[in-house]
Amino acid sequence: AKLTLLPEKTKAISTMLTGVFFEDINYAADGGLYAELIQNRDFEYLPRDKQFRDTKWNSSYAWSLKGDGATFFIDSVAPVHYNNPHYAVLDVKTPGAALVNTGYDAIAVKKGETYHFSAFLKQLNGLKGQVAIQLVSDKAGVLARADVNMAASSWGQVKAELVPTETASDVRLELQPLHAGRMAADMVSLFPAATFKNRPNGLRADLAQAIADIHPRFVRFPGGCLSHGDGLQNIYRWKTSIGPLEARVPDRNLWNYHQTKGLGYFEYFQFCEDIGAEPVPVIAAGVPCQNSANGGQQGGIPMSEMPQYTQDIIDLVEYANGDINTTWGKKRAEAGHPAPFNLKYIGIGNEDQITQVFKERFTYIYKALHQAHPEITIIGTAGPFFEGADYIEGWKIATALKVPLIDEHYYQTPGWFINNQNFYDRYDRKKSKVYLGEYAASLPGGNKSYWETSLAEALYLTSIERNGDVVSMASYAPLMARDGHTQWDPDLIYFNNTDVKPTTGYYVQQLYGQNAGDHYIPASLTLTNQNDAVKKRIAYSIVKDSKTNNLVVKLVNFLPVSVKLAINLNGIKRTGGTITKTILSGNPADKTVLPVVSQIVFPDDDAIELPPYSFIVLRVGVM
Ligand code: AHR
Repeated sequence: AKLTLLPEKTKAISTMLTGVFFEDINYAADGGLYAELIQNRDFEYLPRDKQFRDTKWNSSYAWSLKGDGATFFIDSVAPVHYNNPHYAVLDVKTPGAALVNTGYDAIAVKKGETYHFSAFLKQLNGLKGQVAIQLVSDKAGVLARADVNMAASSWGQVKAELVPTETASDVRLELQPLHAGRMAADMVSLFPAATFKNRPNGLRADLAQAIADIHPRFVRFPGGCLSHGDGLQNIYRWKTSIGPLEARVPDRNLWNYHQTKGLGYFEYFQFCEDIGAEPVPVIAAGVPCQNSANGGQQGGIPMSEMPQYTQDIIDLVEYANGDINTTWGKKRAEAGHPAPFNLKYIGIGNEDQITQVFKERFTYIYKALHQAHPEITIIGTAGPFFEGADYIEGWKIATALKVPLIDEHYYQTPGWFINNQNFYDRYDRKKSKVYLGEYAASLPGGNKSYWETSLAEALYLTSIERNGDVVSMASYAPLMARDGHTQWDPDLIYFNNTDVKPTTGYYVQQLYGQNAGDHYIPASLTLTNQNDAVKKRIAYSIVKDSKTNNLVVKLVNFLPVSVKLAINLNGIKRTGGTITKTILSGNPADKTVLPVVSQIVFPDDDAIELPPYSFIVLRVGVM
């Protein structure tokens, strides 16, 4: 086979093509990326957090009482903050009893590392008191202890540092008052000091690094369906996710658990800045999931409330970008970031049914936000099912309003991705550009993703680069999943308390993120076998990265046999001797496929071998 470049047909493409979509699904935030180790630190778990109400899912969840001569109950008479009405009371008759938290599937700690403990405590019988804070391993006993003083009668925040003497993954946190009496506790927190970039209230370093290693150009957050909620009451309101942790408004996560909002808008913006990605917040278009506000009937926020709802979105721009003397810019500065975050994109709506209710609210928000902030690129939505009625209506409204970008979602089989590589070739370049906000290849059944699905994604992404003049951004979905707590499969990165487990699809994303370009160079491919099924299974994309002056050639072989390919640069002059080759290859059913990097000579005359089921990236220095 021969690939001949056509440099005269070079076109500019988006430099934002590979991004990530972070949603608090599968415990991706609380119990995941957010480094808090205490589960239900706020005592705000409620039976209604679970879809069919679960009475075990209450304010005591993950907490228990250890020892005799004590009782433990939940109270709400005088909370730390009215947004966090519940707190724990431990009534100790005989010292020795303790309040115990088991974390998320226990707590994992590392020997010699520092852990920051903090809590709001008060002694209810008017006396000052002392509490022993301990990290206790099931197998190894007490690994760390610090005694803290507790204020009498009124809430006071106590802090301590704990340094475990052993590495263990079966640890619990114990609060043990050293004398008899009633202790109240709330916002009981334990963080590793070594969060990502050592940020306070920060992110789990290994998971954040895994995301950073993709080199995403943007991070979309906080959802997905989480953004619009499954009823008016749990539409995600960004203002409830900023400020002191005890004042944030915890909420029922529509994915059937509890969200603390400890990982809130400030932390999302900070993370984007830390990894050099553009923040892309997605905000509900005034309607919850499929407009079902009233027990299944179509509904949205009443139009009389839309001015305030829309003002909140306009305020977000001030929070992110405003001067420190503005109302919301000041709050950002108070949180520790006086410089603006340079927000450029806001998504309005997520996979909504494009009903009259939606259209009215979307149009209202779009016009007001665009008028207040014409510098912000607004992303609309093409509804839940591409090429269905919503897709048509979503595009109609985007075209009528001249919405700059429109968000499309599709989860399909590998066969669909192989057969639809021309999907964007036919898109009208004069209409809205596309943000492919959610996509993944998967197969039905329990074991949904493996090398076959990832290779289909690699193959399809060559067509996204080819159409990088109409597709501006793309993000695989969902990003993360905690072992044993998934609501959605497949995901890109699985994890537990100690391990990060990237999937084969993760490496595909990483190779695209790390090998992006700003210009696309068309080519012609000559294959000895002209069978259509064969032609569809060999894909290529050539981009130029002007920053490094590198040509990046991506080659996908989805055939069960190897293919030899010669590359004709057609006049483009190379620099240097060898080139860098990265290859992912394996059997379709493989769950583990790792990149192998080598230096090779350029395959102009000597053809390069594309092994069966392989994805190859070549980086070539050019003049
Ligand atoms: O990615 C998981 C979910 O899929 C998203 O929350 C939603 O937008 C889509 O239906």
